[in-house]
Amino acid sequence: MTTLTDKIALVTGAGKKTGIGYAMARKFAGHGAHVVIADLGTTDNFNADVGTGTSEEMEMIAGELASEFKVRTLAVNLDVTDSGLVQEMAGAVKEKFGRVDILCNNAGATFGVPNGVHTYDEEAWTRTVDVNLHGVFRVSKAIVPLMQEKGGAIINTASRAGKVPPLFNGAYAVSKAGVIMLTKVMARELSGLKIRVNAICPGQIMTDLERWRFGLEAQFLNTTVEEQERKMCETIPLGRIGSPDEVADMAVFLASGASSYVTGQALNICGGQLMEL
Ligand code: NAI
Repeated sequence: MTTLTDKIALVTGAGKKTGIGYAMARKFAGHGAHVVIADLGTTDNFNADVGTGTSEEMEMIAGELASEFKVRTLAVNLDVTDSGLVQEMAGAVKEKFGRVDILCNNAGATFGVPNGVHTYDEEAWTRTVDVNLHGVFRVSKAIVPLMQEKGGAIINTASRAGKVPPLFNGAYAVSKAGVIMLTKVMARELSGLKIRVNAICPGQIMTDLERWRFGLEAQFLNTTVEEQERKMCETIPLGRIGSPDEVADMAVFLASGASSYVTGQALNICGGQLMEL
């Protein structure tokens, strides 16, 4: 079994049990890592149909993982668009653990959809890019100093949408394409510090975000959620939507010594929906 015993793992957007971030944090803890659960902590000003990691849920998750896997945990409120909060979070992590070995930049969102580029609300566009792309920059900048001494692994959650243009979700697609390039830039720049940097590009994974998207599409196309899901599955060679746990398994691989010669890659996990040479 892959071991992450006594590694310190920080996962952003991990405060919601239905999400990919939680699945990552849980798998890391299951492999022996101490975990930091970082998430918004509030639902204010957020898309209520998708929801966020609230302080209560984050504390519950931290408590459950600590008692189930006998690891140390920390729940921290973090808005990746707020440099001050990012710094505070890094300070709290340094105080409790002294360093970070694994950073998962997983927090993500989309605002202002569905809209074509020519009708997109500017504030919604900027906010989407600020969370998804600049958030990865801010958190990485604050955490790399905590990785410097021993090296480590950074895993950025990008998206299939960063490689194949979706319809009417342009800010998200552009931000995720940016995350892929940022991953490659960081992989080159940080190789001397023995920090590997890779991106995961999920296709269709069943989370609140995905359920909401199916709902929007059904409304837009005047059909049902079930029909949208069925049509989507027809485009996936493995014929089904993926689970957060399956994405988390890839994160464990990228965080562990099993991927010691892998850096600067953007790995697809999409049931074969995207096949590249
Ligand atoms: P989710 O909505 O369940 O999780 C996103 C998490 O990010 C939430 O816990 C939310 O509170 C947090 N978050 C949002 N804005 C934040 C901010 N400003 N600061 C800190 N945390 C913030 O959605 P899901 O599906 O688990 O998404 C996780 C990642 O996977 C995201 O980056 C998403 O873009 C990406 N992704 C998801 C796919 C899917 O099919 N579900 C497909 C491709 C990529």
